[in-house]
Amino acid sequence: MAETIRMSYRSLGQCGLKVSVLSLGGWLTFGKELTEGTLVQRLVRRAVEAGINFFDLADVYAHGAAEEVMGRALVEWPRHSLVISSKVFYPTGNGPNDRGLSRKHIMESAERSLRRIGTDYLDLYFCHRYDAETPLEETARAMDDLVRQGKVLYWGTSEWSGGQIRAIQELCRAAGWHRPQVEQPQYSLIARKKFEQQVRPAVLEAGLGAVTWSPLAMGLLTGKYDEGLPADSRMAKEEWLQENRYTAENRDRVRRMKALADRLGCSRAQLAIAWVVRQEAVSSVILGVTRPEQLEDNLRALQVNIGDEVNEQLNALFPVSA
Ligand SMILES: NC(=O)c1ccc[n+]([C@@H]2O[C@H](COP(=O)([O-])OP(=O)(O)OC[C@H]3O[C@@H](n4cnc5c(N)ncnc54)[C@H](OP(=O)(O)O)[C@@H]3O)[C@@H](O)[C@H]2O)c1
Repeated sequence: MAETIRMSYRSLGQCGLKVSVLSLGGWLTFGKELTEGTLVQRLVRRAVEAGINFFDLADVYAHGAAEEVMGRALVEWPRHSLVISSKVFYPTGNGPNDRGLSRKHIMESAERSLRRIGTDYLDLYFCHRYDAETPLEETARAMDDLVRQGKVLYWGTSEWSGGQIRAIQELCRAAGWHRPQVEQPQYSLIARKKFEQQVRPAVLEAGLGAVTWSPLAMGLLTGKYDEGLPADSRMAKEEWLQENRYTAENRDRVRRMKALADRLGCSRAQLAIAWVVRQEAVSSVILGVTRPEQLEDNLRALQVNIGDEVNEQLNALFPVSA
């Protein structure tokens, strides 16, 4: 029988929404690595059974297939018990209007995401990146309209800079529009600098929640790349992800991290996830998995108590410079 996990729930920044501290995302996994219905169902069932209520998607994940397969698996649970997100920005077609944060693309992509997921509303809707070609007013007004139409409950940004986060908050407050409540940044022991030095101060100032992505640096922090690139691993299949990540220095750090995990009696994956969970401003850590065993491993991060001494050693091993 699967182990009982004690999930906890955090407020999304200053708003009333509660998200599970671990969540499950669909990038490169659902609809791509994971297409088989029974396996998808098994993973999603285990996630919900473990208390995960937040599922993170995007219009571009597996060209829309991630929304379809996860949406189908999620129909088993009452809609009110779930927090479902999607995102808009990256190209969904070849046309000049099939991308970006124009009113046209936001409205059209939101409709398609709702249809693929099979839901009437998204709990969270993210601007997947900043769009320098569209006036901020146009994007903010379109998002506000989606909220007023009831198609989106809360909106947010992903990988926006501190300055961009401040600017959109100011604009929405001045105009009386619903403002973003959440930012989705990359954050892990290996990718600390942008979030800690630039984004988190703006997130805290605006009272946003941070729901963070790639807690395992694409799997690097599990130790699976200690001896090279396993053939069935993400970074072997997606070579472009190796850049700035699969470095001798990072791999050496991950090897040295093993002693700290051993001391706590946990896996490196659990230690890496538990470290993100304890960081300031983090509302939820979005997991990615290709196998049920990985989900089991990662869920047990909630049982890891890092303590001050190991925390200091982790901070020294993975300095903020990255
Ligand atoms: N907003 C954005 O721009 C953005 C960008 C990226 C991701 N995200 C979100 O964040 C979610 C998580 O990101 P991510 O998938 O990159 O997270 P991650 O935890 O850094 O990497 C997940 C991958 O690592 C491997 N892995 C996971 N647990 C493992 C374990 N216990 N042992 C060994 N290998 C393990 C698996 O890959 P293999 O088995 O294939 O090696 C898995 O697919 C995404 O699904 C998406 O929802 C958002």
